[in-house]
Amino acid sequence: MTDTTPDAADLLAIAVTVAREAADTARSMRAEGVSGVTTKSTDTDVVTAADRAVERQVVAALAARRPDDTVLGEEYGGSGGADSPVRWVVDPIDGTVNYLYGLPQYAVSLAAEVNGVAVAAVVRNAATGEEWTATRGGGAYRGGRRLSASVQTDLAQVLVATGFGYDAKRRAHQAEVLTRLITRVRDIRRFGAASLDLCLAAEGGVDAYFEKGLNPWDHAAGGLIATEAGLVVGGLDGRPAGPDMVVAAPPAIFGPLTELLAELDAAGGP
Ligand code: IPD
Repeated sequence: MTDTTPDAADLLAIAVTVAREAADTARSMRAEGVSGVTTKSTDTDVVTAADRAVERQVVAALAARRPDDTVLGEEYGGSGGADSPVRWVVDPIDGTVNYLYGLPQYAVSLAAEVNGVAVAAVVRNAATGEEWTATRGGGAYRGGRRLSASVQTDLAQVLVATGFGYDAKRRAHQAEVLTRLITRVRDIRRFGAASLDLCLAAEGGVDAYFEKGLNPWDHAAGGLIATEAGLVVGGLDGRPAGPDMVVAAPPAIFGPLTELLAELDAAGGP
């Protein structure tokens, strides 16, 4: 039984070490060629041997360092004991379709939660080595540089990143929302890895991000990084970020954007 609350900086140090090793594995497996490709929820929702191998590696590395903690991962679900207040949330390869095609936009995403609250996070682009980190209350960083997100105040000037689910009916609804949103904002971007979208928002590469249908491993780490860079992260109608909706936006934009997304029924549909 772990009875002391661990320090966020200590958890971050573990997260960074584990994520770097995991990203090395993902990149070297990609260099050898993608293998073991199967599908999950739909014919376009792929998983590769690397997704599975990287998650197994992360789970083993965390268990070696903190055996009492639990781990929630994209490919194998929950594992580990339940005595610790710490839960690790891992997406071994976020952006698996980019990984499949060799597009350099896929990441290891790893967050440490204490009693259900994310306190330390790392997202590492395995293709490029770019790395974003944050601790709760301690700021967000990339390569030693503290990050400040957009402070845009005019919704019409906002560059918005988003993503789509793997289910065709859900995508049709998401596309309808976009056709009405795109006339109300500066423009839309779709890069293909939610964790990296949130990190891009954290450093001002886009002003805001939203997506319906994300799982905890897609946004746990990136959400903390975006928050610590100054964005407001949440859902619609005062709800927390979750499967219905994740929005990350500058403080002056969060209200108008979430109201517009609610008006467009962005959290609705299949
Ligand atoms: C997906 C990516 C994508 C987002 C999807 C996610 P995966 O994660 O983050 O950008 O639009 O909703 O499922 O499947 O590549 O780990």
